[in-house]
Formats: sequence, C-alpha cells, structure tokens
Amino acid sequence: MKVGILTGGGDCPGLNAVIRAIVRRTISKYGGEVIGFRYGWAGVLKNDHRPLGLDEVSGILPRGGTILGTSRTNVYKEKNGVDRVKETLSELNLNGIVAVGGEDTLGVALHLWQDGFPLVGVPKTIDNDINGTDFTFGFDTAVHIATEAIDRLHTTAESHNRVVVVEVMGRGAGWIAVKSGIAGGADLILIPEVPFTIDEVCEVIQKRHARGKNFSIVVVSEGAEYPTNDDDEAELVVQSKVTDAFGHVRLGGIGNRIAKVIEERTGYETRVTVLGYTQRGGTPTAFDRVLGTRFGVLAADLIHAGQFGKMTSLQGDKVIPVEMAHAMECIKRVDSELYEVARTFFG
Ligand code: F6P
Repeated sequence: MKVGILTGGGDCPGLNAVIRAIVRRTISKYGGEVIGFRYGWAGVLKNDHRPLGLDEVSGILPRGGTILGTSRTNVYKEKNGVDRVKETLSELNLNGIVAVGGEDTLGVALHLWQDGFPLVGVPKTIDNDINGTDFTFGFDTAVHIATEAIDRLHTTAESHNRVVVVEVMGRGAGWIAVKSGIAGGADLILIPEVPFTIDEVCEVIQKRHARGKNFSIVVVSEGAEYPTNDDDEAELVVQSKVTDAFGHVRLGGIGNRIAKVIEERTGYETRVTVLGYTQRGGTPTAFDRVLGTRFGVLAADLIHAGQFGKMTSLQGDKVIPVEMAHAMECIKRVDSELYEVARTFFG
C-alpha cells in the first residue's frame, strides 16, 4: 500500500500528529509506504513530494505547524488542474491520498473523489467550523491560547480601569470567541451568529460599571458583523478585500471599530488586543495531539480498506468515518444554547 498525505489551508496545531500517525500506522500495520506532498494541493499539482518514513516523523508530535508546509491552492482554479492530479497519482502509483484540511481543502478533496480519485479527508482548523465532527483538532489549542490571553488582559484591565476588547479568529463561526470567552469570564462576547447593536454593547458595559466594576473584557470574533446603522444593517470588517483562491477576504479590524465606539459613547478608556496568528502557532494541547493521532490512524485504515470519499470525525468519544459530502454541506456554527450560557455572564 502506498499513501500520499497533504496538509492544506491555514496551519494549526496537531497537523504533525496526524502525519506521524498515518506514517506509523501504514508502516507498522500494513507494511506500506508513505509520501508527503509539499504545500497542500500545490504539491500534488507539481508532483512535489518527499518520502515519509519512521525517521522523518520522529519527534514531530509536539511541534506546531506542518512539516509538509501548506497553501491555499484550489485545483479547480488551476490550468489543467484535474489532469495534473491524475498524472501525479499514476506516476507515483498511489493507493490513495489523505487530504488534511478545512472546508476549502476538503471541498477540493470531495470534488476530486466525485471525479473518481481515491481520497480520504481529515478535518483540521482552529475555527472548529466543519460539519459532521464534534471537534476539529487545533481548536482546543486555540481556545487555550485565547483563554490565557483573556486571563492576562483581566489583570491589566482591572489595574487601569479600562475596557479591553480582544479580537479572536474563527472566520464565519464564533466558536473560539464563545468558548474562550466563557472560560476566561468575558463580560461580553460578540460572534457572527448573533447580530448586535452598539446600544446593546454599551448598555452591557455601563450596567457593569453601575454595579461597581470599573473594567470590562469584551471578546469579539473577527467574523462578527459591525452594525452600520439603526436599520439592522451590518458589515464584515476586512483587512483586505482581495480574495484567495476560494473567494475568502482577509478578516480583521472589528476589534478596533468596537473599541472606538465604546470609548466615544461611554467615555471609558478602551484598548484593543488582536490575538491573530498566536492562536494558530506553537505546540498542540494533549487533546489536539490525541485527536490528530486518532484521526491519522483511522485515515490510514480507510485508505487500506478502500473506503474513499470519507472524512474522519469525532462523535462523542468515538472516532468514526462520515461521508465527506455530508461534512461539506454547510459550515458548523455556534448553537444558541451555548451562546445562552455565555449570555448569563454578560454585564
Ligand atoms: O481558518 C483559519 C484561520 O486562521 C481563520 O480563523 C482566519 O480568518 C484565517 O485562517 C486567516 O487566514 P490566513 O492565514 O490566510 O491569513
């Protein structure tokens, strides 16, 4: 058995755990061989790969990022993309490819599988927005990093009687914001799934001050929409309108907008911290290492069993395969029940 692996999209902690697990399982259980494509789908298009044996994956479990590199490459936007994938697969004589990625990388994997290629998906992203799995690896680490930052910001906000707005990642889903906000005891959490008005934001902070608390922590997800007027209109705040190969703009900046309006309307001194890429970097938590490892082992088994078109998933405590098509139907967003728990602590 010969397996190819690629990691695509934004990197996240736990990718190396998956790579290691696929290599170890393929070699020890199936006596097979593994190669890794460099920089996601770009490596498949160019047939740019490296062998992955026991030595290559030794010591990588605690390392952040991906030893294979990553990119946001869309095979279907590249000239002769599908033909080039076909050439690479037959040149290398692969039984199958494991694509480790988020909605974009796995979206390409799904299309390629529908076009007849032997593909298995493994869901990764700090955003935790993949349908069909309770969690993606990388998310737990991001939540830990954001929670620790909120803890630290509490002490400085309190010392200065300030409002601190913390902007976190997550794209169109508020999972990082709501989980780190609950864990860090945020006084207000703003997420893409729940529209808000500036009046509501200021009221929460003023109510808090009225009960003698002279500082507040506001966690805002980068994809939360900024209300532009009183007619319920809202807009995404972007760093750049230029889109990537999958049509995504670069989000960022809502933290500054919220902070400015809070200071203007309430008169409370307000500061902003944008956590940015710190949420994606560094060593994975034990949870993400274990989840990545379990996903990797299952992915190798699926390739061996010829079970293509599947994605590994976590359902409760079980790691099981689901249809990739089901997982790609929609983005998984924060449910209202969880947000209701968070709301209990606002103000
Ligand atoms: O999808 C992961 C993510 O970190 C998002 O939370 C964020 O919006 C995006 O990637 C940033 O992408 P890039 O690495 O291209 O700046």
